[in-house]
Amino acid sequence: MSNLILLGPPGAGKGTQAKILEERFGLKQLSTGDMLRAAIAAGTETGLKAKAVMDRGDLVSDDIVIGIVADRLDKPDVAKGAIFDGFPRTTAQAEALDKMLPSKGKKIDSVIEMRVDDEALVKRITGRYTCAKCGQGYHEEFAKPKTPGVCDVCGGTEFTRRADDNEKTVRDRLAVYNKQTAPLVAYYQGKGKLHVVDGMADIAAVTQAVEAVVKGLKG
Ligand code: AP5
Ligand code: MG
Ligand code: ZN
Repeated sequence: MSNLILLGPPGAGKGTQAKILEERFGLKQLSTGDMLRAAIAAGTETGLKAKAVMDRGDLVSDDIVIGIVADRLDKPDVAKGAIFDGFPRTTAQAEALDKMLPSKGKKIDSVIEMRVDDEALVKRITGRYTCAKCGQGYHEEFAKPKTPGVCDVCGGTEFTRRADDNEKTVRDRLAVYNKQTAPLVAYYQGKGKLHVVDGMADIAAVTQAVEAVVKGLKG
């Protein structure tokens, strides 16, 4: 069992790599962003609270997010390990995670920081779109479907874009990352858990680098 954290700014490739790792290692992607978007789509009370905050690129409150993760970790599908994608995002969330994991018989094995230049991030996010049917992610330039307009995975022909994927909000999300999330790099370095990966490389090369860390964990 290994639990890892993918740490990186918006557009760093956390979701892209988490999905690949899920398939190769049987780990489970836990994306707090995806969970919150699901809550919005379902119209739950949490979703109602989160929507405006997310649309402007701010962070949802620590209490809400920590509660969602604590519940999620009780499901059996994380037994082989979890890939935390977009969580923790504040020091309070990291401390809460450190506190809750031992009581669930778990621990964080490794934290992978994905480093990408700001301008590349903006380009990645503004070109991103997703299959409406199966959720497969694409990019106008960097990850096109094999047949234009048709999802490789499910054959779907409808695609969606996230409400927060415009240039203005991306720049606000980046500022929030630098202020509130970047301190976690030092937090995990201090615990001897940090690995840095060059997120500027192409998707396959990033996967190789991330896999090397995961395999190292499994020894
Ligand atoms: P969240 O959903 O976590 O978004 P994010 O952190 O801003 O990150 P993204 O999902 O935008 O980027 P990614 O790193 O997954 O990149 P991807 O792989 O898609 O959070 C959204 C919001 O929810 C937050 O702003 C906040 O409001 C709230 N929230 C979530 N978690 C929270 C928490 N813990 N606390 C409080 N609030 C929280 O890649 C991007 C694009 O680039 C894709 O098109 C992809 O195809 C392409 N690409 C990927 N890798 C490469 C590569 N190596 N080369 C070229 N293109 C690439
Ligand atoms: Mg993502
Ligand atoms: Zn699809």
